[in-house]
Amino acid sequence: MSISASRRVFWLCMIFFCIAPILAQSNMTAAAPSTATTPPMGWNSGNHFAEHVTDADVRAAADAMVSSGMRDAGYVYENIDDTWEGQRDAQGFIHTNSKFPDMKALADYVHSKGLKLGIYSSPGPKTCAGYEGSYGHEAQDAQTYAQWGIDYLKYDLCSYGYIMKTQSHGDQQVAWAMMQQAYETMHQALLQTHRPIVFSLCQYGFNAVWKWAPNVGGNLWRTTGDINDTWNRMALIGFSQAGLAPYAGPGHWNDPDMLEVGNGGMTDNEYRTHMSLWAMLAAPLLAGNDLSKMTPETKSILMNKDVLAVDQDSLGKQGDRVSAIGPFEVWSKPLANGEEAVALFNRGTSYYPISFHLKDVGFTQPVQARDLWSHKDIGTIQDSYTAVVPRHGVVMLRLKPLKP
Ligand code: GLA
Repeated sequence: MSISASRRVFWLCMIFFCIAPILAQSNMTAAAPSTATTPPMGWNSGNHFAEHVTDADVRAAADAMVSSGMRDAGYVYENIDDTWEGQRDAQGFIHTNSKFPDMKALADYVHSKGLKLGIYSSPGPKTCAGYEGSYGHEAQDAQTYAQWGIDYLKYDLCSYGYIMKTQSHGDQQVAWAMMQQAYETMHQALLQTHRPIVFSLCQYGFNAVWKWAPNVGGNLWRTTGDINDTWNRMALIGFSQAGLAPYAGPGHWNDPDMLEVGNGGMTDNEYRTHMSLWAMLAAPLLAGNDLSKMTPETKSILMNKDVLAVDQDSLGKQGDRVSAIGPFEVWSKPLANGEEAVALFNRGTSYYPISFHLKDVGFTQPVQARDLWSHKDIGTIQDSYTAVVPRHGVVMLRLKPLKP
C-alpha cells in the first residue's frame, strides 16, 4: 500500500472508530438545552474596533449597552473578538496581552452590569490576526476561560486550515474529518469546565457546517465568509441563507455573521432590510457598531422590539423565501401560537409594489396584521396584501389568525 493510501486508511479508521463514537456520545453530553434557546444577542468588538480593542473599550461598551437600553432590549453578550491574546507561560496557560491587563476583573465588571462576556480563539496555532490560538492547549484554554468567567467562545478556523491541508495531504474527506474533530475537541474541553459557555463555530460555512455543527456542540455556526458594511455584501450573505431553515432551532442556530447596523456604510432603509432579514432568519444578533455614538435612527433599528420579537420567537423556527420575482422577494417565518412574520424585500433600485397571498404563507383564513416598522396595526387581510417598498427597503408584518 502506498504511503498516501495508508494515511487515508488511518484517517478513515480514526473517523469510524474514534471520531464517530465521540460525536455520537457528544449528542448525549451536548451543551445543556438551556444554552442559546433563542438566537444569542449581544455585541462584538470586531466590526468597529478590530485589532485596536482594549479593556477600556469593552468596559465603555458595557456601560453603553446599559445606558442605551441595548441590554434591556436583549443584547446581553459582550464579545471580545481577536487580538486579546498574549503569550503562554511555561506550563502552557494562555495570558492576555497588554491591552487586557486583567480578564477576570473585566469579566467581573461586565457581569456587574448584567451582561455576559464572550471571547475568541482558534483551533489552529494562530488566530486569523496572527495571535496565539488554542492548538494543543484546548483543555487548558477552556479551563482558563471558565476561571475568568467567560460565557461565550467564538472559535475561528484560521490557521487550522493550514494544519488540515498539510496533514490530510490533499485528501478533502480527511481534511473535513480533522476539522470536525478540532471543534469536537474544544466542545469536550468546554463541557469539562461545567460552566455553560455558548460555543460559536466560525469556519465560514465549509463542508455544510449546518449538517454537523450541533453534533460537535455548536450553539451557532457561521454559514458564510465575513460580512462588511456594504449593501452588496450584506444582501449577498443574507439572501443566500434561503434553504437553511431546517437546520436551525432552539440551542443551535445558523449565523450569517454580525450586524453592521450603525456603522455608516448603508442607508437606513438598507439597515432596516439587514435587521429584518436577520430577524426572519432567526439569526444571532450581534451588533458591531460604536455603541457610544448611536444616532436615534440606529437605536430605533437595533432596538425595534417588534422585529426583535420575531428573531427571538419561542418557536425557534428560521424563516425562508416564499417567492422571488426578479429582485422582489417575499419571506415568511412561523411564530409561536400560529402567528407568522412576513417580510417584503425590494432588492431593486426603485420603489415597487410587492404582493403576497395568505395561502402562500400558510393561512386559509383572514388574519390581523401589524406593520413592524411603522408599529401600526393595519387591520384585517382577507386574501392578499400589497405594499409599495422603497429601493433596498423592506415592509415587515406580523400576521395573527382571526380565529385561533
Ligand atoms: C475571521 C472571522 C471574523 C473575525 C476575524 C478576526 O475573519 O471570520 O469574524 O473574527 O477573523 O481576526
